[in-house]
Amino acid sequence: MTKGYFITLEGGEGAGKTTQIEHLREALIQEGHSVVVTREPGGTPAAETLRDLLSHEEFGPEWTPDAQALLVYAARSMHIADIIKPALAQGRIVICDRYVDSTRVYQGEVQHINPFFLQALEVQIIDDVMPDITFVLDIPSEETIKRIEERGGAKDHYDKASAAFHEKIRQGFLNIAEHETERCHIINAVQDEMKIAQEMRKKVIELMGGADA
Ligand code: TMP
Repeated sequence: MTKGYFITLEGGEGAGKTTQIEHLREALIQEGHSVVVTREPGGTPAAETLRDLLSHEEFGPEWTPDAQALLVYAARSMHIADIIKPALAQGRIVICDRYVDSTRVYQGEVQHINPFFLQALEVQIIDDVMPDITFVLDIPSEETIKRIEERGGAKDHYDKASAAFHEKIRQGFLNIAEHETERCHIINAVQDEMKIAQEMRKKVIELMGGADA
């Protein structure tokens, strides 16, 4: 069976994931690949509705951590079934803005939900649909706050969070990356945009077995 390639980008707010996803998408298309770009929470119309609920101005801050995890995993279940699995089965490259590691960090590490509950959700919903490669875009929390301000201020309650919260998020991702070194690659996101793009492109092509870099 054809098997595609699954790439995820993770990191705190304002790390530049969207910009880098666009660079990577263009580079891989140029290499002749068929690429699907998607995001979480979301990626299907129904899952996007759940995303809106999670970041809802009034209700967003009200969800308990367990409820957040359930909403995220409800969205992920549909996203995997409708978008990710079919694209991978067709041999396409899927680039996803956030995935399992965001739940581990935002709901797991930061909000301390029961690790067995989170693990049960992972086992049931994700099964073997784990990324082939995950880029962790790392920026210091002061830089996160600066970037949120530069782009016009907080757009939801996550953006409004304190430097301590952003630092916890950062450490959560770094912790995962340090434990899953095969899959995760830490990228210094406070460097030239094109340099980051080149580094990521090189890594993906290398891991996919391409000659170039
Ligand atoms: P972003 O994609 O613009 O960064 O926004 C998505 C927000 O949702 C971000 O603040 C992180 C949060 N989130 C979770 O809390 N849990 C998750 O599992 C995912 C994928 C995202």
